[in-house]
Amino acid sequence: MVAKKLSKRLKRSPSVKKLRAFASKLKAVSEFASDGYQYMKDAAPSERIAFGVTDPVHLECTLTKDYHRIEKGISLRVPKRPFGEAVANRIQHNLLAFDGIESTDEGGREFVRYSVEALEALNLWNREGERDSRLDFELATPRSGHDVDNVSRFFGSRSSVRSFDRTREIPAEILNNAIALAANSPSVCNRQSWRAHLYTDPVDVLNVLKLQNGNSAFRDEVPCVAVVTVDRRLFSGIEERNQRWVDGGLFAMSLVWGLHALGLSSCMLNWSVNADRSRALREEGNIPAVEDIIVMIAIGYADEGAKRARSSRRPLEGIARFH
Ligand SMILES: Cc1cc2nc3c(=O)[nH]c(=O)nc-3n(C[C@H](O)[C@H](O)[C@H](O)COP(=O)(O)O)c2cc1C
Repeated sequence: MVAKKLSKRLKRSPSVKKLRAFASKLKAVSEFASDGYQYMKDAAPSERIAFGVTDPVHLECTLTKDYHRIEKGISLRVPKRPFGEAVANRIQHNLLAFDGIESTDEGGREFVRYSVEALEALNLWNREGERDSRLDFELATPRSGHDVDNVSRFFGSRSSVRSFDRTREIPAEILNNAIALAANSPSVCNRQSWRAHLYTDPVDVLNVLKLQNGNSAFRDEVPCVAVVTVDRRLFSGIEERNQRWVDGGLFAMSLVWGLHALGLSSCMLNWSVNADRSRALREEGNIPAVEDIIVMIAIGYADEGAKRARSSRRPLEGIARFH
């Protein structure tokens, strides 16, 4: 009793509060240091110093960034002429460095072909002022827009679902289709660093979900969980350090829309955790150490009569700012 009172009083004392605040700041510094260390260790060098790169994924990063610069330049209404000398030199150099290296992962070596084609298109443009038909695309957006009623029905009918029908199996094909839809997301210089780790075995699903704090009330109902990550080796230089969450978040949202389009429901699950917890999830989910975890997504068919939270939205005036 006395000990309890003493401990309560201690907790309330200003010096103990100050000590705790200091300890929490120290913890924050160590978390930032851990994030920074991982990024500096694994990310590609900035292109200012990208000559002499030998890591195959860093070469993929640098080549992709550069071939995309040419694609962008060539797609302009009036491309500059000539342009891209430094970029072309760097691509040539990095293609030589990549020659003979085995493909990096399932992504294969497509970026090598795109780099070669971009170089050829650039030469043709700079020499002859002609556009290469391989890089000359018409816009696919319908000029009159999409059917607004359909679009607003589509956007307005998605909500986070927390009650799933466990008896309905989710065909792998549908998950793959949703991922293929999500892969249409934009990404910084087309780096496409995203990965979706999928778990459908009930034991795996539970073990993964147990590491996340926002699903305890409906964990037992979730038939599938996705962990969206990005490969940090596909980002370069310190300037791109925050881009990981932009690109990963864009992909995650597209995946949710893709699932919605295919009749599946989902609930994003925050990954607001310390580095230790990310390490635990990587271990549990067999996720490579070079991947940053962006978010988890609970996926399944909504249960009959499933409810949604009100989740009201700010009025438009609270969001849009015309200047
Ligand atoms: C990044 C992110 C993390 C989220 N984390 C959780 C979570 O841990 N648990 C949960 O039940 N809902 C989670 N949500 C769902 C939000 O509560 C929900 O999106 C929000 O209230 C809007 O509702 P709606 O998705 O139904 O439109 C998360 C949403 C996002 C975007």
